[in-house]
Amino acid sequence: MKVELANTAGFCFGVKRAVEMVYEQAEKHKGERVYTFGPIIHNEEVIKDMEERGVSVIHSVEELEDLKDGTVIIRSHGVPKAICDILEEKGIPYVDATCPFVKKIHKIVAKKSAEGYHIVIIGNGSHPEVEGIKGWAGDGATVVQTTEEAERFKIASNKVCIVSQTTFNYNKFKELVEIISEKMYNVIVLNTICSATKERQEEARGIAKRVEAMLVIGDRRSSNTQKLFEICSNACADTYYIQTLDDLDMNQLRSVETVGITAGASTPNKIIEEVQNNVRIII
Ligand code: F3S
Repeated sequence: MKVELANTAGFCFGVKRAVEMVYEQAEKHKGERVYTFGPIIHNEEVIKDMEERGVSVIHSVEELEDLKDGTVIIRSHGVPKAICDILEEKGIPYVDATCPFVKKIHKIVAKKSAEGYHIVIIGNGSHPEVEGIKGWAGDGATVVQTTEEAERFKIASNKVCIVSQTTFNYNKFKELVEIISEKMYNVIVLNTICSATKERQEEARGIAKRVEAMLVIGDRRSSNTQKLFEICSNACADTYYIQTLDDLDMNQLRSVETVGITAGASTPNKIIEEVQNNVRIII
């Protein structure tokens, strides 16, 4: 009879730091307005809890431009430089909760583009993190996500600096870098993939392989939780996707002796512990 909880379940370093910063600011500015630019994480429970403490979500640049007061928190994905400029021009104080690993990419692309390099970001162009990185890269930035895009990539200059979205798949990154490198002679490649996602996925796969049932906890809209579910389902036929303890049908677990638990990067510890404690009881 065993419950195995993944060490890497839940918040990564950058998300944990950003969430803590929001709670700190809410406490510090009690009774005043505090905003996050975009939801701090994809988790309804946490957003609701933050709202109760006076933290609202700003959804667009227009809304940001209309702000008259308050404190704005920039989430772990980071934002384009233009957003910081708007806040500075308006004199609205802001707290930058951009993950230091993402901030490092901002610094690299700003420096290299100032040195005349064309920046290539390997990643998903519609992801806020990539939009943010692009916004620090001067004029010359191209986002490449697919083999076709890498093959089509062509620029007049030969100086190219390639970075990656932190959550991009390493093998795909390598493949795209090879295609681009073959066409140019002055290419700087910086692998800026963060290991947190990969470690979480590998640990989940390992646990799913050795347990009879696997629980993946996370918000329905969280893409990294969906990916975890896919990985675990491939390794363990009895894999369940739950958002909170309420989604768990305890009867499904009564006949098993080993249960594994993992959670997406935006799942709070409180929810993970609740599930773990309850599963322990039925087993
Ligand atoms: Fe930062 Fe890596 Fe998390 S880049 S936000 S620690 S996935």
